[in-house]
Amino acid sequence: MAGSDATGHAGTPQSATTENIDSILTEDRRFPPPADFSAAAHIRSLDDYRAMQQTARRDPVAFWSGLARSEIQWHRPFNIAFDDSRAPYYSWFGGGQLNVSYNCLDRHLADRADKTAILFEGEPGDVRRISYSELHREVCRFANALKARGIGLGDRVVIYMPMVPEAVVAMLACARIGAIHSVVFGGFSSGSLRNRIEDASARAVITADGGHRDGRIVELKAACDLALSQGCGSVETVFVLRRAGNPVQMKGGRDIWWHEAAAGLSADCEPVWVDSEHPLFLLYTSGSTGTPKGIQHSSAGYLVVVAATMKWVFDIRDSDIFWCTADIGWITGHSYVVYGPLACGATVLMYEGAPAVPDAGRFWSICERHGVTIFYTAPTAIRSLMKMGDSIPARYDLSSLRLLGTVGEPINPEAWMWFRHVIGHERCPIVDTWWQTETGAIMIAPVPGAVTTKPGSCTLPLPGIEADIVDAEGRSITDPYQGGQLVIRRPWPSMLRAVWGNDKRYRETYWEPSGAHYYIAGDTAHRDREGYFWILGRSDDVLKVSGHRLGTMEIESALAAHPRVAEAAVIGKPDETKGETIFAFVVPKGARPTAEYAAELTRDLRAWVATQIGPIAKPETIRYADSLPKTRSGKIMRRLLRDIAQGVPITQDTSTLENEEIVKQLQGQV
Ligand code: WT7
Repeated sequence: MAGSDATGHAGTPQSATTENIDSILTEDRRFPPPADFSAAAHIRSLDDYRAMQQTARRDPVAFWSGLARSEIQWHRPFNIAFDDSRAPYYSWFGGGQLNVSYNCLDRHLADRADKTAILFEGEPGDVRRISYSELHREVCRFANALKARGIGLGDRVVIYMPMVPEAVVAMLACARIGAIHSVVFGGFSSGSLRNRIEDASARAVITADGGHRDGRIVELKAACDLALSQGCGSVETVFVLRRAGNPVQMKGGRDIWWHEAAAGLSADCEPVWVDSEHPLFLLYTSGSTGTPKGIQHSSAGYLVVVAATMKWVFDIRDSDIFWCTADIGWITGHSYVVYGPLACGATVLMYEGAPAVPDAGRFWSICERHGVTIFYTAPTAIRSLMKMGDSIPARYDLSSLRLLGTVGEPINPEAWMWFRHVIGHERCPIVDTWWQTETGAIMIAPVPGAVTTKPGSCTLPLPGIEADIVDAEGRSITDPYQGGQLVIRRPWPSMLRAVWGNDKRYRETYWEPSGAHYYIAGDTAHRDREGYFWILGRSDDVLKVSGHRLGTMEIESALAAHPRVAEAAVIGKPDETKGETIFAFVVPKGARPTAEYAAELTRDLRAWVATQIGPIAKPETIRYADSLPKTRSGKIMRRLLRDIAQGVPITQDTSTLENEEIVKQLQGQV
């Protein structure tokens, strides 16, 4: 089974697949929803979940239209619920008009004006509580500041900020005036920032002097200055929030302090009503080839599904303190720190810093002090906190927690069980949520009051989501444990609408390989006897390092741009804590380096990649050789490199290699 075509392609190491299947075959632990949880939940039983699923299946457009009416306050109702006449460029809720910031703020002012919208804790320990009415005022004021600088409908605005409430204000202020935001993760370097600004032709950048991370100050404004000094001609204005207090340079005519820009402006700002399909944001993510793609999301369809999934998967209630630990630079932060919770009028906790500052108890201390009820994080974080030992979480009162969640990569059953025992005290259901930047919202996850969970499985697709697993010919694989490509058979409202400025790439990446019959996720997966989904990993050359997506190509290009490098190949090596680590094979210019030269070059290259892309992209290991193993057509033999990196016997036929000696060099034997 593991040797079938569908699972045996490049990207899914054979051994990992086999191991995974073995673990699933022996994974017979089951955790039904606790009765008291189900009794009070939005979806209370498996029957209710199945009934919703059936309704959605019978008439998907009617199902989503009903949700669109219940989840959104429309300025003008839609009349064309779904349009597939330009497939795969689908559109939803045509004819409708809305404003996303209105839906996240104004509509709560009648009954939740004084409720805390954002409960913020900075890394240094500063705490702020911002009510819905205060957030509304701040968003309006800053929207007016954007307008005063000429920003309006359809303009792109790059947000490069720390995890502070003003980052949310900036996003919602853009949404208020119909500007399209593109948040760039604050951990990315000036080079990555520049690429994204240029691809989107942004007119403005919103940044901060710096943010607190790991006891240090991340100098965002300085990185922004560097990016702008090397291009980015479209940028007219840079708004700078004072956060960390580090000195910055302000360029006259271009740069303006946030507080000065907003001073004296009205705390009212009439929302700009936009069409359902108006782009709410772009978010750049790595693909297997080329530069990062600007994933474009809509306004209405996106909001409908993020709001619905807050209820279905997180069972959100007015009394909850919801904490999603993701940075707003990732889709998880967009959907489950900002738009989902605020659309539901929830209280969302936002933490600025690193998990182990001042010590490994920080997350649990935050849960205790703020009474967090729902805690959503990444498997990599769980594994690293697990390594610190059970005695650390044992020091904190975690009894406020009622639901736990994970996202970003497969979670190994051991970490799942630890999360359940040591953090959830057997009381809290765990929702393992599968989705992507492109899907906008959660697609496959247990509905916690309805679906029995199994450690390591994201369980069943949500109502309206026709997830399937197919073989190389596109046939549905129904045999249990048989791996294949994870696909979604029917368009859904929160799906991506485009790759910014590149219709061809959108079509070719997600739809064309199936003849536009279904959406291709780029993951491999299989189902068990009960139809539960188990994700195996990516099927393309995309790495998941600590749950973050990095393209091998991007790192390879960065390495190859170094003056001492001729060529490079990058692969992911399985890692217990991080999921994968980056392993680079490098052909240096000139002769193969001596040990001493190699050590120095490795330091240099790691620092180089950190400045080109960001510290998360630094290769963990670099190995040098005179050339790289390639097929006759010139394709790098990645499976061979994976075997070498893992130190396992080589399974691939190497007879087509020009120089078999290279394999020994790459293995570090000569
Ligand atoms: C890729 C998408 C969506 C939020 C964070 C990542 C992997 C995501 C799971 C999960 C196994 C998962 C997939 C997917 N992934 N969630 N619960 N179990 N794998 O967003 O950066 O767009 O990455 O993350 O490989 O394709 P992203």
